Amino acid sequence: MSAEAAKPLYNNKNPFQATHPVNNKLTGAESEKDTRHHEISLAGSGLVYEAGDALALKATNDPELVELTIQALGCTGDETVKVKDVEKPLREALFRDYVLHFVEKKFIAKLAERGVAKMVELSKPENAAALTAYTNTRHETRDYVDILREFPEVKLTPQEFCDTLRALAIRLYSISSSQKAHPESVHLTVATVRWNAHGRVRRGVASTFLAERWGGEMTAGIFAQTQKHFRLPDDPNTPVIMVGPGTGVAPFRSYLEERQAIGARGKNWLLFGEQRASQDFFYREQFERWQKDGLLSRMDLAFSRDQAEKIYVQTRMKEAGAEIWKWLADGAYFYVCGDKNKMAADVHNELIAIAQTHGGKSPEEAKAFIEEGLMKTEKRYRRDVY
Ligand SMILES: Cc1cc2nc3c(=O)[nH]c(=O)nc-3n(C[C@H](O)[C@H](O)[C@H](O)COP(=O)(O)OP(=O)(O)OC[C@H]3O[C@@H](n4cnc5c(N)ncnc54)[C@H](O)[C@@H]3O)c2cc1C
Ligand SMILES: NC(=O)c1ccc[n+]([C@@H]2O[C@H](COP(=O)([O-])OP(=O)(O)OC[C@H]3O[C@@H](n4cnc5c(N)ncnc54)[C@H](OP(=O)(O)O)[C@@H]3O)[C@@H](O)[C@H]2O)c1
Repeated sequence: MSAEAAKPLYNNKNPFQATHPVNNKLTGAESEKDTRHHEISLAGSGLVYEAGDALALKATNDPELVELTIQALGCTGDETVKVKDVEKPLREALFRDYVLHFVEKKFIAKLAERGVAKMVELSKPENAAALTAYTNTRHETRDYVDILREFPEVKLTPQEFCDTLRALAIRLYSISSSQKAHPESVHLTVATVRWNAHGRVRRGVASTFLAERWGGEMTAGIFAQTQKHFRLPDDPNTPVIMVGPGTGVAPFRSYLEERQAIGARGKNWLLFGEQRASQDFFYREQFERWQKDGLLSRMDLAFSRDQAEKIYVQTRMKEAGAEIWKWLADGAYFYVCGDKNKMAADVHNELIAIAQTHGGKSPEEAKAFIEEGLMKTEKRYRRDVY
């Protein structure tokens, strides 16, 4: 039975308990980033995925942060709390069930209810911006430890505290391998999220779980998230253009492995960007080998910090506009993966500009061609942005 037809064996309620045997740094020692290649074992699972799918991971919190939170509450960790009607020790609940590194409004409201004057003020609707500035200013975020230490006179029972917390959610990652090339494993390409605030290192839950805490015999829950909107074209002869700066390159490594494995004859064009060629050229050997072998018909690179002016993937698109237009006219699919906030919008606007410059379209026609035609009607313009 095909992966499409089969009902997934695993889901949020019933994840596969996997091990994580490979954790390699892709970025160099001088890089500003810590981006890693992870391999998760599927041995014995029967879990299936397709190129373009994502992997859902149920990560746990940093035990150090759990202990600091328990101390800040004045607890031992052995107290019993109820999480969705299941009784368990506070330590276990904080480890597995709740978000600890960002604070909830409910917690602020609880402190206001206890008469903490600052929280009474911050809870007023007109002070919403001040509340966000207090809890969530970039690089100056506060967690429960910061706030409980600021107001040591406030005593919450473990249950009162837990009842203000947000449930810890799964994280999704674009799969960067093809199962045809790696039947028993799934690969991810993950930027480790860390920042400093108020004298302590802050850690993104899942990316640091992968980078620092998940190894050896330890298992964690995973399941595949089907992403039908982000599959390769059905016809292996169809050319594809793939725009994937940063970790956005992940699904395209999967596409290329897939097309290599099935001997697809369609042309493949990758546009990749990162900060510095010497530090941040992920999978360089593999991509250069594929270029030499002809699997990659074309690869355009945009290293943003190797020169005074910023060079981004859309800079390369603009330079290669005539060729992109030609590929689109020949039926190419256009894929974009990575940063949703800025990159995806800039790439989108560049695509519209190419339709104007090289397709001779008016601004309105170009916009309609890309957004209505290519994206909605033909579904040849596919995005997976986050
Ligand atoms: C479909 C999909 C595919 C994805 N694929 C990938 C992928 O292939 N590779 C990849 O690396 N990621 C990918 N992501 C993103 C990934 O799911 C996580 O969001 C990311 O790894 C961060 O998760 P975390 O648990 O480590 O951090 P979290 O615990 O979620 O913390 C991250 C949050 O911290 C905040 N933050 C970050 N830096 C700072 C700072 N300096 N100061 C203050 N706040 C800050 C931001 O608000 C950010 O949302 C994908 C997301 C989706 C939806
Ligand atoms: N919230 C944040 O501040 C923050 C910071 C980093 C990453 N992220 C998110 O984390 C995820 C992973 O990031 P990542 O490490 O994979 O890479 P990334 O931050 O997306 O960076 C990859 C490359 O894209 C460049 N870039 C920056 N702005 C761009 C734009 N408007 N158009 C095209 N390229 C642009 C970067 O250049 P320069 O860095 O030289 O500008 C870098 O060379 C993304 O979702 C990203 O949004 C968030």
